[in-house]
Amino acid sequence: MAYRIIWITGASSGIGKALAELYAARGATVAVSARSADALQALAGAKANIYAYPLDITDADAVPDTVRRIEAELGPIDLAVQSAAMWSQMGVDEFDTAKIRRSMEVNYGGTINVVGALIGPMMQRRAGRIAIIASVAGYIGLPQSLAYGPTKAALISFAESLKPDLDRYNVAVTVVNPGFVETPMTAANDFEMPFILQPDDAARRIARGLDRGKFEIAFPWQLVSSLKALRNLPYSAFFGVTRRMIEKREEQKRASQEASQG
Ligand SMILES: NC(=O)c1ccc[n+]([C@@H]2O[C@H](COP(=O)([O-])OP(=O)(O)OC[C@H]3O[C@@H](n4cnc5c(N)ncnc54)[C@H](OP(=O)(O)O)[C@@H]3O)[C@@H](O)[C@H]2O)c1
Repeated sequence: MAYRIIWITGASSGIGKALAELYAARGATVAVSARSADALQALAGAKANIYAYPLDITDADAVPDTVRRIEAELGPIDLAVQSAAMWSQMGVDEFDTAKIRRSMEVNYGGTINVVGALIGPMMQRRAGRIAIIASVAGYIGLPQSLAYGPTKAALISFAESLKPDLDRYNVAVTVVNPGFVETPMTAANDFEMPFILQPDDAARRIARGLDRGKFEIAFPWQLVSSLKALRNLPYSAFFGVTRRMIEKREEQKRASQEASQG
């Protein structure tokens, strides 16, 4: 499947940027969005077929304006990848209602703005694919994920609801559920991140899944299969595992405090 005109949000860094570089190297015309205009200009400056469209996806008016501009200037969008999001590590000790609301506003509300702006023109053309980057963190309620996890669970549910309806208009939906990827988003994490991947590796896996027209693209399989298995456990066993995750984190915190105190 060859995508000619591609729009990627969250393309100023991490997975979105790696995907933009991958598709530009394949010869596609790539529109890139995020709030950091300088980073987008640098990306666009390095490749003739990348075009910067700075955008805050929470701005409900700016999103459809940007879609209209991209389509007028570059052509109809074949593939849109909604990668923009924010992450906050949060357990009950850090409970912050404003941050939880903001996470929902960016990750879920922003995605609604992006999808809402795309479906009209795509349904009319009876063509196009919308890929929403969620996370394996959306499969289950994980410790430290009070602000982030619910946004990604909402996105998975949203994509599942959207797919059969949009199928009727020949518009495809993909949900991407990555495990850990080494990007600015994960740089400050103070917990273990098993099977962590590099952004270019994640981008290749996503592009392969999109080429195959998959609904779900999830990786790495080790994390995906264990979290999906956890999801199917009875709650008594499920909470046994997630409680152990909290205990392990507390032990790690104590050990690093003791080490820093000499
Ligand atoms: N890294 C991981 O381990 C991991 C795992 C699972 C899922 N994911 C998901 O993968 C996607 C990409 O994450 P990443 O790791 O590549 O993180 P990243 O490097 O921090 O990229 C996030 C991108 O989102 C943009 N962004 C944030 N808020 C925005 C807003 N309001 N409007 C427009 N753009 C906004 C950021 O640019 P500006 O700040 O310039 O706006 C940046 O380009 C996210 O959806 C993330 O939740 C990541």
